[in-house]
Amino acid sequence: MLYNRVFLVGFMCSGKSTVGRELAHTLGWEFVDVDEEIQRQENNTVAGIFQEKGEAYFRNLELQVLTQLSQRNRLVISTGGGLGANPVAMELMKNKGLVVWLDIPFQEFLERCKGDENRPLLKKSLEEIQLIYQKRKEVYREAHLHLDATKDVPSIVKEIVGFLN
Ligand code: S3P
Repeated sequence: MLYNRVFLVGFMCSGKSTVGRELAHTLGWEFVDVDEEIQRQENNTVAGIFQEKGEAYFRNLELQVLTQLSQRNRLVISTGGGLGANPVAMELMKNKGLVVWLDIPFQEFLERCKGDENRPLLKKSLEEIQLIYQKRKEVYREAHLHLDATKDVPSIVKEIVGFLN
């Protein structure tokens, strides 16, 4: 096996954590969700961190946690939608493992994320969110693998495992 780590990137609600958990299980590797790790370290929710300490603080923390996790081996890492769209993070991940973009159409994102209260970005207007979605694609597309995330989870996992072997 060429890679010691798999990083999953993509927009909110693209299934990064679900696919990540399943992929780690299949590979016999560990799974870490960057948002969960941040919440554990800060003993606060993502929404709480945004509210109390601001977005810039959260973004800085994301990069720090990613750097820490990138030292570990046999690890599947799911990133927050903003982290995978950070060019510095993308560069780091590409140097440290296989980067997989789980791509979903904007409409699919709307349906899947509907009613979610925990994601601060969803408080923005539809136009703003659409702009963020478009802009982020410019970075996500630098991933090694670009997958259609509307497919079922086992198919996505199979594609990634096939690429690793
Ligand atoms: C964010 C996505 C979230 C979380 C935070 C910010 C973003 O993660 O990191 O709410 O900027 O897109 P998910 O992609 O897992 O929803």
